[in-house]
Amino acid sequence: MYILGLESSCDETSAAVVEMSEGVRKIKSNIIASQIDTHRLYGGVVPEIASRAHIEAISRITYEALETAGVKLEDIGLVAVTSHPGLIGALLVGVNFAKSLAYANKIPLVGVNHIKGHIAANYLAFSELEPPFTALVVSGGHTSIYDAENYTSLKEIGGTRDDAAGEAFDKIGRVIGLPYPAGAAMDKLACEGGKNAVALPSPALAGDTLDFSFSGIKTAALNYLNSAKQSGAEVNRADLAASYTEKIVSAIVKKTEAALLRSGSKKLAVAGGVAANSHLRAALEKMCKKQGAEFYVPPISLCGDNAAMIAAAGYYKYLDGKTADTSLNASALD
Ligand code: KG4
Ligand code: ZN
Repeated sequence: MYILGLESSCDETSAAVVEMSEGVRKIKSNIIASQIDTHRLYGGVVPEIASRAHIEAISRITYEALETAGVKLEDIGLVAVTSHPGLIGALLVGVNFAKSLAYANKIPLVGVNHIKGHIAANYLAFSELEPPFTALVVSGGHTSIYDAENYTSLKEIGGTRDDAAGEAFDKIGRVIGLPYPAGAAMDKLACEGGKNAVALPSPALAGDTLDFSFSGIKTAALNYLNSAKQSGAEVNRADLAASYTEKIVSAIVKKTEAALLRSGSKKLAVAGGVAANSHLRAALEKMCKKQGAEFYVPPISLCGDNAAMIAAAGYYKYLDGKTADTSLNASALD
């Protein structure tokens, strides 16, 4: 079955054609129109601008996805669209476009949870991956650990109580002069600094909880930069990036390892934009090796927001019989 996936929850408009059936998981096209250059001028995503840019791009991107895949609209068996969570104005563009397209062409429709979409990127990257497994989602808006019980249901067993890891990277990166979104540039800069050069608190909460808090490490890094400014001391940005990354990575590894031990799971699948972080990928792989667990992480191209992952998640929801009608609405929340 050919599925048309649509994603517009934040600052990327994406359309993809994915072929899914028993034993087949194949990306035919995955077109992404990024708005990053526009939002960079403001140091972060401006929701109003994002919505307008989605409106301008979505039709063109959809037809480009069909053309690249060599698939006609009448051959599409399912339209899958991100319906939640995300920026409400941005989501509404994708949801309304998908509803109109599905209704006019009599194609079944499903609304997809963006987080489940990120996890489903692993199904596209690893044809052998099947639930149950432990899932770690690390993105600009989420840092959560789940028991992925089957293809469609997730049980959250740990997560951040405030900011997300991606947001923490973006914030401090911006303060030290890196362009938005700073995650990838922080990753590079961290390779050149000392991991223990700057003392910072751990985002892993104490005790047997699997939760995180990133607000403390963000504040500590800001205080470090302000004190240096006041005393006229020069800041070694690479040392700060390396120490900051080390603390974030080791906290995520610690809680993910505890989650694997607690559930007895021998499979870990990682997803989300921050899953592109080279330090995190290496540290999680090492931990999985130690625990004798299989380690799954998509290629960098499938870590960030894209519509192929939405199509894959939509397929499993469709198999569950959870199709939507024209009353489908977007929601900013999970
Ligand atoms: O999943 P995503 O594309 O959007 C959300 O659903 O949030 O994630 C975007 C986040 C941004 O915060 C970005 O800075 C971060 O992923 N990111 C990275 C890296 N590449 C992207 N963070 C750390 N290291 C990277 N290499
Ligand atoms: Zn995302």
